[in-house]
Amino acid sequence: MKIAPSMLSCDFSKMGEEIIRMDRAGADYMHLDVMDGAFVPNITFGAPVIKAVRGLTDVPFDVHLMIDNPLKYIDDFVNAGADIITFHVEAKSDIRATIEKIKSCGVKAGLVIKPNTPAEAVYPYLKDIYMVLIMTVEPGFGGQSFMEDMLPKVSEIREEAERQGVSIVIEADGGINEKTIGKCSEAGIDICVSGTGVFKAENAKEAIERLRAF
Ligand code: DX5
Ligand code: ZN
Repeated sequence: MKIAPSMLSCDFSKMGEEIIRMDRAGADYMHLDVMDGAFVPNITFGAPVIKAVRGLTDVPFDVHLMIDNPLKYIDDFVNAGADIITFHVEAKSDIRATIEKIKSCGVKAGLVIKPNTPAEAVYPYLKDIYMVLIMTVEPGFGGQSFMEDMLPKVSEIREEAERQGVSIVIEADGGINEKTIGKCSEAGIDICVSGTGVFKAENAKEAIERLRAF
């Protein structure tokens, strides 16, 4: 299992040091949650903050946009150094245009589905994207409980991808820790995001190693 610590749970008073700490702890990706206070009821940080910490590590940046109009801001997040940009299928942007915009910048594109959104919502785009991110909590806040009933979406998406003859990376996000990651692994998830599971652990390196072993 690949592990993407969510910087939402880091100490924002020293975000740069936290990025370096996660690099040394063996993070496979850095997961950066961008929230606009409109698409979700919380505000975090934007492209300038991501840009400020990008030079501190070579670990790929997985930028999760929880914003109403992702298309408008793709250039900013590309310039900030995103390696993967995921945005919500429920957002207001033209989905196909947004995917094409991300790819035209040489960045990997992914679609995110909220808990109430069925797997089918991403089927028309599977050929064009690198990743599907399945939310296992309602987006907006860290530290919520894992929704196990989201896991059937993994095999649904895998089967549809096979039908279409494409391969897809599947990531899950929300409430993932040592108690819940086993289920994610059994379901066939490739990358797990973990915020509190990594940042609230006494030793982040050991926490990541334990999570990765699943
Ligand atoms: C929630 C974010 C998640 C969150 C995960 O909207 O997308 O990435 O930070 O945090 P935990 O692992 O604490 O649920
Ligand atoms: Zn996220």
